[in-house]
Amino acid sequence: MDSIIVRGGAELRGQIPIAGAKNACLALMPATLLSEEPLTLTNAPRLSDICTMTQLLESLGAEVSSMQGGKVIAMSTHDLGSTRADYEIVRKMRASNLVLGPLLARAHEAVVSLPGGCAIGARPMDIHIEALEALGAQIELKDGYLHAVARGGLKGGRVKLRFASVGATENVLMAATLAKGTTLIENAAREPEIVDLARCLRAMGAQIEGEGSSTIEVQGVDRLHGATHQVVTDRIELGTYMLAPAFTGGEVECLGGKLELIGAFVEKLDMAGIDVTETEAGLKVKLRGDRPRAVDVITEPFPGFPTDLQAQMMAMLCTAQGTSRLEEKIFENRFMHAPELVRMGARIEVHGGHATVTGVDKLKGAQVMATDLRASVSLILAGLAAEGETVVNRVYHLDRGYEHVEDKLGAVGARIERVSA
Ligand code: UD1
Repeated sequence: MDSIIVRGGAELRGQIPIAGAKNACLALMPATLLSEEPLTLTNAPRLSDICTMTQLLESLGAEVSSMQGGKVIAMSTHDLGSTRADYEIVRKMRASNLVLGPLLARAHEAVVSLPGGCAIGARPMDIHIEALEALGAQIELKDGYLHAVARGGLKGGRVKLRFASVGATENVLMAATLAKGTTLIENAAREPEIVDLARCLRAMGAQIEGEGSSTIEVQGVDRLHGATHQVVTDRIELGTYMLAPAFTGGEVECLGGKLELIGAFVEKLDMAGIDVTETEAGLKVKLRGDRPRAVDVITEPFPGFPTDLQAQMMAMLCTAQGTSRLEEKIFENRFMHAPELVRMGARIEVHGGHATVTGVDKLKGAQVMATDLRASVSLILAGLAAEGETVVNRVYHLDRGYEHVEDKLGAVGARIERVSA
């Protein structure tokens, strides 16, 4: 298994291109199941999670081809060959559950494995199930699989989500496009990836209003047609690289970055003493003094501070002046990077969903282990600031969500390399 070796202390300077959003692409790809006609995505990221989704869609009868080195994904699902999403694929990636809504809408039936637990928490599917039941689906759990049917097809209805779950909003939004009548999704998630999905579905002929707000209205149509859609910029990759100069000094311009994707995060950067300026090509970032300042962070659904940037922010706060408090409100077990950062000399105390970080002058390189996707990149960022060598093991998590991290950071001056075991 590959490891990443980082030698700290190098100042970063230059431009980092930001890819299309993994989480948007993973929701957009299953939309192919809604139509007999081709759906093409441009600006797709080149990640192992995208390969997993490709495999899943192919197992359901989609033809998927990737062009321009993976940046363009052309899909076509003329016939559904199967309506069963197998455990072997779903267990690798929770986002596989996003085929449930589209399969129910098109075939009126689906058998989808439950994803099982993952490192950051239990992550049940109850909100997805309740939402699809509100559209007339009957869903039963048998042998670890959800067996869903909608005899005569889904019917529009009022869906009030108990929590603004991103995945549940995406599933029910896709399902509602082909349901009979009008669907009102209340307490919908407002993430930019939802807005992107709604735009793509609209390009396919769906009638949707209100995406980006907490109430989405969908007028069901008989069929959807083909479309070409450009995947929105990855706000989490953007936020990750925007933090890099706070570890090392220097100045980095993140190409394709937009403030509207990342407002709450930028507010915290400003409070921590990090300047962000909008340029024609993206966002330029620079540390004001020689050390960032402590800030308190609470993760929340969009437009709040994203949970997917909490680990990276914690790593940055490890070298900030003062004491920061972090509260994780989305996932129950998302501080597993903390003990690894402590191995690098950080001062962190974790109590349940709360962490206190007292900044130290210098982190020290160490062998560390990545337990999930965002945790792995937080350890790489910490390595950029640390004295000596940091070896991040088990980087397969990283490859799920960051394309060529060593090339992107290497190109702006980081001393970083990948070694294969
Ligand atoms: C998506 C993102 C993930 C991000 C998360 C929160 C994708 C592929 N992944 O995940 O990177 O961290 O949003 O921004 O887009 N929950 C339930 N029951 C449900 C569904 C969710 O209790 O039926 C809980 C989860 O366990 C979790 C919280 O709600 O604690 C948030 O989950 P959700 O918004 O659904 O996240 P995902 O769509 O899984």
